[in-house]
Amino acid sequence: MDLDLSGKHALVCGASDGIGKATAIELALLGADVTVLARREPVLQQVVSELPLVIEGQVHGWRVGDDGQTQALGDTVAALALERPVHILVNNGGGPPGGKAIEADLDAYLTAFRHHLLANQARVQAVLPGMRAAGWGRIVNVVSTSVYEPIPNLGVSNTTRGAVAGWAKTLSRELGPDNITVNNVLPGFTRTARMNHIVADRMAAGGGTAEQVIETIATTVPLRRVADASEVAAAIAFLASPAASYITGISLAVDGGRLQSI
Ligand SMILES: NC(=O)c1ccc[n+]([C@@H]2O[C@H](COP(=O)([O-])OP(=O)(O)OC[C@H]3O[C@@H](n4cnc5c(N)ncnc54)[C@H](OP(=O)(O)O)[C@@H]3O)[C@@H](O)[C@H]2O)c1
Repeated sequence: MDLDLSGKHALVCGASDGIGKATAIELALLGADVTVLARREPVLQQVVSELPLVIEGQVHGWRVGDDGQTQALGDTVAALALERPVHILVNNGGGPPGGKAIEADLDAYLTAFRHHLLANQARVQAVLPGMRAAGWGRIVNVVSTSVYEPIPNLGVSNTTRGAVAGWAKTLSRELGPDNITVNNVLPGFTRTARMNHIVADRMAAGGGTAEQVIETIATTVPLRRVADASEVAAAIAFLASPAASYITGISLAVDGGRLQSI
């Protein structure tokens, strides 16, 4: 199986923490030159200093970008892609806040669509000329299992994720002839800063200690545990690799079997 990413340039977004950071590490281990992007520059610099260097001449770097600033984000990624074409784009960032769909105000929806759909679109448009010229591209979007089964109390997120999935499927059909694949990875409960917030919310609602809350969450997962971010990153890295050359337009759940649908 060909997992070799040497000579490939990967842009991993939301990579100062959590699933994005774990993905940057995984892609670097497979030989890619990795650029990490998020808002906190000092954290990105630290991440880059820790990324593995496994082949001669491998280089990693960072760019500062905010998913809420669509135009500036697109400009930043376009400048990067002009410097060096991006072959692998991992669209990832922070998740929308919780709450019921019916209670969310209009701005919450606009913000979530900007941070997810519009940021993804701006980045894809920025890297596309380079992918087309290379005749090879991988776009992997980190979404959520709510694409298949809406999650209670994540109303805005459920809505936005569905839109991202529809956008990604459409793109996979449009970009297939350019040998560019577009896939989604749908994490289940994964131990990251985002999950720590969810745990804190449940503790505040009387759910017990952090360990008890996580144990309760784990009972809803057939594998009876939450994921480590590296387990989600492994799926992203596979979809980004040459080995996944005939896979496009899919949404791959990495959820310990939690989704009920077949
Ligand atoms: N963890 C889970 O259990 C789980 C489950 C299902 C889905 N997901 C989804 O998977 C994605 C990643 O989750 P995670 O758990 O890895 O989250 P995380 O640990 O909170 O990390 C989020 C990353 O996104 C960056 N980010 C946040 N807001 C941003 C913005 N406005 N512009 C640019 N970068 C931004 C953060 O860096 P900066 O703060 O430096 O910008 C950080 O690097 C999210 O969409 C999340 O909803 C997670």
